[in-house]
Amino acid sequence: MIRKYRFGTPFETDAVVRELPLSEGMPEVGTITTEDGFCMTYTMAKQDMVYGLGESNRGINKRGYRYISNCSDIPNHAEDILSLYGAHNFLILSGEKTFGLFIDYPSDLEFDIGFTRSDVMTIRCKRADLYLYVLEGDSPLDIVREFRGIIGRSYIPPRFAFGFGQSRWGYKTAEDFRTVVRKHRENHIPMDMLYMDIDYMQGYKDFTVNPEEFPDFKAFVSEMKEAKIHPVPIIDAGVKIEDGYDVYEEGKRNGYFCKREDGSDFEAAVWPGLTHFPDVLDPEARAWFGGKYERLTSAGIDGFWNDMNEPAIFYTPEGVEALREAYDRELRTGREIPPFALGSMAAGLANSRKDYDSFYHKVNGKMVRHSDVHNLYGYNMTRAAGEAFEKISPDKRILLFSRSSYIGMHRYGGIWTGDNKSWWSHLLLNLKMLPSLNMCGFLYVGADLGGFGCDTTRDLLLRWLALGVFTPLMRNHSALDTRLQEAYQFEGIEDFRHVISVRYRLIPYLYSEYMKAALRDDMMFKPLAFVYPDDTMARRVEDQLMVGNEIMIAPVYTQNAEGRYVYLPEEMLLVKFLPDGTLHTEQLPQGHHYVEVALNEVPLFVRKKKCIPLVKAAENTADIDMSTIEWLGYSGAEYELYEDDGITRI
Ligand code: NOJ
Repeated sequence: MIRKYRFGTPFETDAVVRELPLSEGMPEVGTITTEDGFCMTYTMAKQDMVYGLGESNRGINKRGYRYISNCSDIPNHAEDILSLYGAHNFLILSGEKTFGLFIDYPSDLEFDIGFTRSDVMTIRCKRADLYLYVLEGDSPLDIVREFRGIIGRSYIPPRFAFGFGQSRWGYKTAEDFRTVVRKHRENHIPMDMLYMDIDYMQGYKDFTVNPEEFPDFKAFVSEMKEAKIHPVPIIDAGVKIEDGYDVYEEGKRNGYFCKREDGSDFEAAVWPGLTHFPDVLDPEARAWFGGKYERLTSAGIDGFWNDMNEPAIFYTPEGVEALREAYDRELRTGREIPPFALGSMAAGLANSRKDYDSFYHKVNGKMVRHSDVHNLYGYNMTRAAGEAFEKISPDKRILLFSRSSYIGMHRYGGIWTGDNKSWWSHLLLNLKMLPSLNMCGFLYVGADLGGFGCDTTRDLLLRWLALGVFTPLMRNHSALDTRLQEAYQFEGIEDFRHVISVRYRLIPYLYSEYMKAALRDDMMFKPLAFVYPDDTMARRVEDQLMVGNEIMIAPVYTQNAEGRYVYLPEEMLLVKFLPDGTLHTEQLPQGHHYVEVALNEVPLFVRKKKCIPLVKAAENTADIDMSTIEWLGYSGAEYELYEDDGITRI
């Protein structure tokens, strides 16, 4: 049962695609006031747990902290960070009463879930203009399915997107890219995708390619495709301001960029220097920007990642000017502005609230202040691409994922979880985020394996890959100037080959489970509590997950550990993929176990009376031989295998 309530005059975000009648009166959960913005309070029982909020910090159970939906370019996911790149305002309270809430509101929204008072959940935002959906169901999983039913089917990528992808910010020359492919093939480390970060472009201009390095880009793409590699270029939100650059000139001429209050085009500095932001909230501008992807698809490109679309701002001319004035005053008086204040003003130039307040979108002929709809920008940039692909490539699926997102974007693409660090705690954060992302419809998801910022270590990368084996997006990505992080940079390459090969052995299972989750509004990653709701121990587990309907995973996330404690809610079959290609299998009874896992092993647990398909390892998804399927698990078990050509749109 879903009830939809309207407060004030909400902005139509298109997050929900199913028409629902409006309910009268106030919802029966919590207390709502609207005099001073929107504020909903709910008193939680001691054992109540809170799931959801998609891409947000902390645990699977969100209780005990504060979160703010405010899409942020934030390369520092420390424990006290309240906002990440996405804004996913869906949660489920599970306990004495069980219900779901979706607050369809595109600006800052705060969730205080037992932070100020441990028994009180408060949801508040500045303006009481929103839709509130209250969902009731028999169980959290039921509620998730109901919710997914109203927000529309999740994005379905091509099957090759389930292969392994190598990425790094810093690959620049055609030779850099060729080297990565050659090293993978020489070392027999499986690979399907090669990500192209900003340096492939000419001067960081969207939809251009550096002509010196790629004089014939089409030929370069064909060469990669011949090696069974899909190059996946990045597209940034900001369009460089440069006379003669046709995307800029067209956008300017047609009024497709976001505007200042005085009607001039808003300027913000990102990688190329000063840029304009395409007004992707305006359907005409969105169609125009989306159409530009064809420049790359016509060269054979069939995958993209959309970046910097919170949108990230390094500074604006106005911000720099204000700083300059303050600096001049400081020099003149030496007292007017304390040096520390000037310092923080300089530091605050990036992603400043003042700048987000100062530009506008055109929506149904009206100007809408960006900060009032801030959380919709990345969503609509990716929607621009997704909608365009329906025309550019009506038959074939295209790989697409984004950094910033809002619920609704899950219909057009996946997400990667942005600039994490090479920290063990981020490996665990990666795991904890997966079910909440799935709850909000984001199924094609993954983190930068090995960590984006900071120098990784061999053991961290191996352990993180062993988790990445199970995430739909399996990509090793790292930042400029960090330690080289490709698998072949480390000693004992065979260990990396083995771990990544396990992924390829499991692709029939992972693809089947993904497709079933997408087609049935289900989750691919579930907390144990969703599957074993009556098991009080399982309800509290924060470092194991159910992957699909037949297996559980329990990755190692501690340095120097040689294994870990695992809780089994029922009897299961422990399977370890050993480096020599053989399997260690062992039936373990319900309860707690210490499981030894060497750095070069990948463990999983097959649920009682279940089995999964396993194929022979391949170096590429195209080479997976389905005739080699063997069944791993309990004998007599049945499995629903999903198969298609992996490319035709469905
Ligand atoms: C920020 C993205 O999060 C990161 O993945 C990328 O490498 C850099 N931008 C450079 O494009």
